[in-house]
Amino acid sequence: MGIKILGMGSYLPEQTLKNDDFTRFVETNDEWIRTRTGIVERRMAGWEPVWYMGSEAAKKAIAQAGISPEDIGLVIATTATNDFHTPSVACMVQSETGAVNAAAFDMNAACSGFVYAFDTAHRFLATDSSLKYVLIVAAEALSRFLDFGDRSSCILFGDGAAAAVVEYSDTLFTSGLGADGSGGRLLYARAVGVAEEVKIDSDFDDGFPEKRLHKLYQDGKEVYKFATKALPKAFHLAADKAGIAPGDIDWFVPHQANIRIIETAAKNLGAPMEKFIVTLDHYGNTSSASIPLALCESVEKGIIKRGQKLALIGFGAGLTYAGAIFEY
Ligand code: UT7
Repeated sequence: MGIKILGMGSYLPEQTLKNDDFTRFVETNDEWIRTRTGIVERRMAGWEPVWYMGSEAAKKAIAQAGISPEDIGLVIATTATNDFHTPSVACMVQSETGAVNAAAFDMNAACSGFVYAFDTAHRFLATDSSLKYVLIVAAEALSRFLDFGDRSSCILFGDGAAAAVVEYSDTLFTSGLGADGSGGRLLYARAVGVAEEVKIDSDFDDGFPEKRLHKLYQDGKEVYKFATKALPKAFHLAADKAGIAPGDIDWFVPHQANIRIIETAAKNLGAPMEKFIVTLDHYGNTSSASIPLALCESVEKGIIKRGQKLALIGFGAGLTYAGAIFEY
C-alpha cells in the first residue's frame, strides 16, 4: 500500500534576512554565502511561535485537502525547536485546527524529521483501518537557537513551516530510516536550563564541545562529509527494497542544507541536477520543514505533478537520515 498527499500548506515568517544583513553581526559577505552554500535569503520568526506557524500551514493543508478536521485521526509534528518542552507542537496544532478526534505527538529527527514522520504516517495507516487521515506538520524556528557570533553556522538556517494531509492509497511506497548517534556531538543545541546545570554548575564532562549555553554548535566540515554520503545512502535504503533506480525518479526532493551537498550527492547517485528541487536559495536550511516547504512550493508552481514519482531524502542532526519514495 502507499500514501497519497491530499493537500499541503505552508507558513513563512514575515521577516526576511538577506545575506548582507549578516554583516551587522559577523565578518562575512554575500558572495561567500552564495558560492559556499547557495543561500541568498531566509525567513526569520519574530513574534511567531513554532506552534502558530505549524497551525497556519496545517489549516491551509486541511483546506486544500477538502476534508473536515474532525476526520483526522493522527497529528504528527516534527520539530527540533519547539516553544515548549510540553505541550507538544502536535497538541497545539490539534487544538488550533479543530482536529478534535486526533491523537497527537511530536517527533524529533532533526532535518530528517518530515521523512521519518511520512514513514510513520504510512505505518499507522497500514495497520489501523479506522484511521482516515494523518496530518503531518513540520515547523521550525532555528533562528532562536543560532549563535549570531558564529559566521559558519548562523548564515545557514531559516525558519518556516509546512504541512500535509495524507491518506491510504493503492500506489507505490517504499521508505528507509537510519541513524548514527555517534555523530550526535557534531551538530547540537543544548536544552535551556540543562545548559546552565550541566555545563556551569558541575564538573561533569559530557563530551559535547563547549558552546554558548543553548546555542547551536556545528562541525561544518564533518557534517558536510556525512551529508554527501547520507543522501545517496538514504535513497538506496528506500529504493533498493522496491527495485527502484535513480533513473525511475521524476523529482528528488532533498533536505535543503547546502547546494554543494546536493550537487555532490546528485553526482554520487548518478542523477542529473535538473531533477533535484532546490529552494534553499530563498529559505535557507529550515531543518525538518525544508523538504515539505520545497514540495509544497513545487506543487504550487506546477513543477511537481500528480502521478510523478518522488524521492524525499532527509539527513541531519542526530545524526539521522531517511528516504521515502512514492507517487505524488
Ligand atoms: O541540516 C544540517 C546539516 N548541516 C549541513 O549540511 C552543513 C554542512 N556544512 C557546510 O555546509 C559547510 O561546511 C559550511 C557552509 C558550514 C562551511 O563551508 P566550507 O566550505 O566547509 O568552509 P570552511 O569551514 O572550510 O571555511 C573556509 C573559510 C574559513 O576561513 P579560513 O580559516 O580559511 O581563513 C572560515 O572561517 O571560510 C571562512 N568562513 C566564512 N567566511 C565568510 C566560514 N563562514 C564564513 C562566512 N563568511 N559566513
